[in-house]
Amino acid sequence: MKDRRIVILTGAGISKESGLDTFRDPDGIWARVRIEDVATPEAFARNPDHVHAFYNHRRKGLLDQAVAPNAAHLAIARLQREWPGEVLLVTQNIDDLHERAGSPALIHMHGELLKARCLACGAISPWREAMTIDSLCPSCGVEGTLRVNVVWFGEMPLEMERIYDALAACDLFVSIGTSGNVYPAAGFVTQARSNGRAHTLELNLEPSEGQTFFAERRYGPATQEVPAFVEQVLKDGW
Ligand code: APR
Repeated sequence: MKDRRIVILTGAGISKESGLDTFRDPDGIWARVRIEDVATPEAFARNPDHVHAFYNHRRKGLLDQAVAPNAAHLAIARLQREWPGEVLLVTQNIDDLHERAGSPALIHMHGELLKARCLACGAISPWREAMTIDSLCPSCGVEGTLRVNVVWFGEMPLEMERIYDALAACDLFVSIGTSGNVYPAAGFVTQARSNGRAHTLELNLEPSEGQTFFAERRYGPATQEVPAFVEQVLKDGW
């Protein structure tokens, strides 16, 4: 058992019951704002104030004291602590709820809302207040060179080589709370299957775009499905 490796991918659905919006649900973010206006390098070059305002609103929401990790985040942190083999947690989410749930390590492949990146010196710094075109880089002190440390559409997600290496070696791939609309994350299930031995499991509120690629699928709220899955794996494996 101890050499069996698990890769977990999470999406916005895991944070929904913590009070954060998803993207493609009927009440999701992309039902209110256009990707082209706030989540591309071109949008930032065209209207940085508007892009800053979009992420300032989401950062303020994330820092609201009513927003906290839920039972699904906590269950994943438990699996990372108690599973004898390797567990790689990869999230598409830019919130810090996995960290706050106690996950010891994870990859934020789309970056982090609570970090700033300086276009002058390249430094990545913690950032919890509103960011504007007048903000100063905490590292080099230059004004007006900060962007939120989030991967925009058209940019390369982070740590892809490490993720693909883990998918090539895993025995279990679990996708949680993602619609399977956005690549490369949506292709991770086929990457895992191609290693010839991985079991693949989708835990989601409803079938995702990639549902047919999964050997096993369980549907329901993440706070229900994820703790049950972790309990079962820790007790009986898969
Ligand atoms: N429990 C489990 N799943 C849920 C819940 C819940 N309580 N609520 C919603 N979901 C599911 C939805 O059914 C949907 O399949 O979560 C999924 C959320 O899908 P999206 O809104 O598309 O979010 P995600 O898949 O994370 O988007 C991927 O797209 O816009 C980009 O960069 C952004 O990281 C994001 C990426």
